Amino acid sequence: MQFEELVNELARRMTDGSFISGTISQSRTKSDEVKRVKVKPIELKGELHIQFEYQYERVLQHENIHSGDVRGKLKDLLERFKQVHAEFLDEKIHVQLSKKFKVMWKSDQMHSKKVVDLSHNRKKQYLLDETTPYPFLIRLGVQSPDGKVKKQKYDKFRQINRFIEFIDDSLAHLPKDRTIRILDFGSGKSYLTFALYHYLRIEKGLDIYVTGLDLKKEVIEECQQIAKDLEYDKLEFLVGDINEYDKENAVDMVVTLHACDVATDMALARAVRWGASVILSVPCCQHELFSQIQSPELQVMLKHGLIKERFSALATDSIRAELLTLVGYETQLLEFIDMEHTPKNILIRAYQTGKQASLEAVQTYEAFRDMLGAKPFLEKELLQSRHLSLNEQKK
Ligand SMILES: C[S@@+](CC[C@H](N)C(=O)[O-])C[C@H]1O[C@@H](n2cnc3c(N)ncnc32)[C@H](O)[C@@H]1O
Repeated sequence: MQFEELVNELARRMTDGSFISGTISQSRTKSDEVKRVKVKPIELKGELHIQFEYQYERVLQHENIHSGDVRGKLKDLLERFKQVHAEFLDEKIHVQLSKKFKVMWKSDQMHSKKVVDLSHNRKKQYLLDETTPYPFLIRLGVQSPDGKVKKQKYDKFRQINRFIEFIDDSLAHLPKDRTIRILDFGSGKSYLTFALYHYLRIEKGLDIYVTGLDLKKEVIEECQQIAKDLEYDKLEFLVGDINEYDKENAVDMVVTLHACDVATDMALARAVRWGASVILSVPCCQHELFSQIQSPELQVMLKHGLIKERFSALATDSIRAELLTLVGYETQLLEFIDMEHTPKNILIRAYQTGKQASLEAVQTYEAFRDMLGAKPFLEKELLQSRHLSLNEQKK
């Protein structure tokens, strides 16, 4: 087979409906910044395209080429790279090109049980791919060096992937003309902090600056070292208490993942104070309301410790959502991860709108809070910073 025939054959097979995926690798020049190109079919606006994913040292770039124009793109790539692996429904092929463009073609016949998946977002289920080795996940012990997610870390892998999906969905609410300032409060071992940095900065190439804050000095020092080793220069880790963190004037996005008890409320209060456009928060254990709640109307429920605990957690998140709405956020409580994987499965998503709360909305909140006998930490913080004004204060 001649080089031109190879290009024609690959272009034909990649666009005839049987192509599953492929990889083009082994650059002819050492200086080529693209290490490998992953290829797959996708459907865009009802038409078949081939997606080329260029893998650089630290960045991924995507290019979607209409099926009619694939030949030219393949020709360019096969002039730059010497190896092609491709999987089709009936065959796996391996192509090796020599220095002088001599073609060696090997194929294995097979009957794949796979189906051709053309959905553009088939990867969206996991924005961090399960088989790609990510340096930060390897350093954090989530993946083994060959990119396999460790069994005992699989829940964490799912959680950060899910969280990143929510971050991805909120990008339209963030500034496009300047550095996006992001804070992760109670970052702990910082799986999420590293993952969001990787996704936004390295994969999407966005101009961001991220801070992870936590009380634990040793854990933060370890994160600082990893960030330094990976040359993540727009990511910093600080030791500190959320409630005393006064270094910023404005922050665009505040995230928390399982920040303990009222640490979540401290983070929400800070976010409101800075006028953060996006707040994404998965709360953790809940003790505050459990110790306050008293309600004759709810006695049938509250006399059972288990029910009281669950009810307190749900009421706390409802109060948080309501307070954020009252201070000008469009707020939703969403399922984070299904219950099978973690009982802490609610995510608070709040986008700033600046919309003023109505008198009735404030009254409804006050009535609910009084029915429970609650004195929420977040309410106190928002009153103190004068973002919240209640009807009872006006009397
Ligand atoms: C359950 S861990 C979650 C860590 C991380 N976000 C994750 O999901 O892997 C909760 C973290 O919140 C931190 N934390 C609790 N209260 C805090 C506070 N007031 N200020 C800063 N960090 C706090 C703890 O030190 C702990 O590392």
